[in-house]
Amino acid sequence: MAKTALITGASQGIGACIAKTLAAEGYNIAINCRGEQELENGGKQTAEACRAFGVEAECFLCDVSDFTACETMTKAVKERFGSIDVLVNNAGITRDGLLARMSEAQFDAVTNVNYKSVFNMMRHVSGVMMRQRSGHIINISSVAGIYGNAGQMNYAAAKAGIIGMTKTAAKELGSRNITVNAVAPGFVQTPMTDVLDEAYKKAIIDRIALKRFGQPEDIANAVAFLASDRASYITGQVLEVSGCMSM
Ligand SMILES: NC(=O)c1ccc[n+]([C@@H]2O[C@H](COP(=O)([O-])OP(=O)(O)OC[C@H]3O[C@@H](n4cnc5c(N)ncnc54)[C@H](O)[C@@H]3O)[C@@H](O)[C@H]2O)c1
Repeated sequence: MAKTALITGASQGIGACIAKTLAAEGYNIAINCRGEQELENGGKQTAEACRAFGVEAECFLCDVSDFTACETMTKAVKERFGSIDVLVNNAGITRDGLLARMSEAQFDAVTNVNYKSVFNMMRHVSGVMMRQRSGHIINISSVAGIYGNAGQMNYAAAKAGIIGMTKTAAKELGSRNITVNAVAPGFVQTPMTDVLDEAYKKAIIDRIALKRFGQPEDIANAVAFLASDRASYITGQVLEVSGCMSM
């Protein structure tokens, strides 16, 4: 039976690319979209692109910051596909601002979507994987969570928190043959970063050893490796995919 991968926030950007990359490797794909808008603007196209690889793909609507909604989605994916073999916690948002001016709402929005969601999804999906006695969880962190980044107190906190959860879950779930790792992208060209101004982008390139932005495929390939049997003895790790970016 084909294995199933569930990817959160997979209607566009890195998440959509991960979905297509895993579909090309033969996984059935559960595409999580935040709502109807994301389903129409990307989710359906991503599912179609996955099916072109001859696998099954379906969209599941859920705001991953909602604990109960994550439980409902987990049950629906398990019922539809029979197993959940790979979970990629990719959904994320930014609400940048300097600490001196950051509102409580800005902080809460980013930590709920980027950080609490990872707990929500691992809490529910780990039950499925423990019963299967196998599984791979990959959490998308960021270089901001390793080095910090001015203007991203909320985002850096969330992404650093993901690393702590990843290492803890790896220790708790290892005896059940479940690996848990994080990927920490640097600057990747997606709708999230397209909105940044050109001068800022140029300054960032100067700080990247490879002198280019990452592409979604660079992240998706690292995720596909960590989801594969080739990485079966790697757990509790953070793989930085940043072209050697200095923060
Ligand atoms: N682009 C970069 O440079 C970069 C760098 C480091 C880390 N990351 C991380 O990679 C991940 C993907 O980022 P991206 O660049 O593709 O961004 P993006 O904005 O293109 O995609 C983010 C996805 O998350 C979804 N999402 C947002 N809130 C959600 C919610 N509440 N429930 C379900 N889905 C939700 C969006 O609908 C979208 O599909 C994020 O976790 C981001 O923090 C990105």
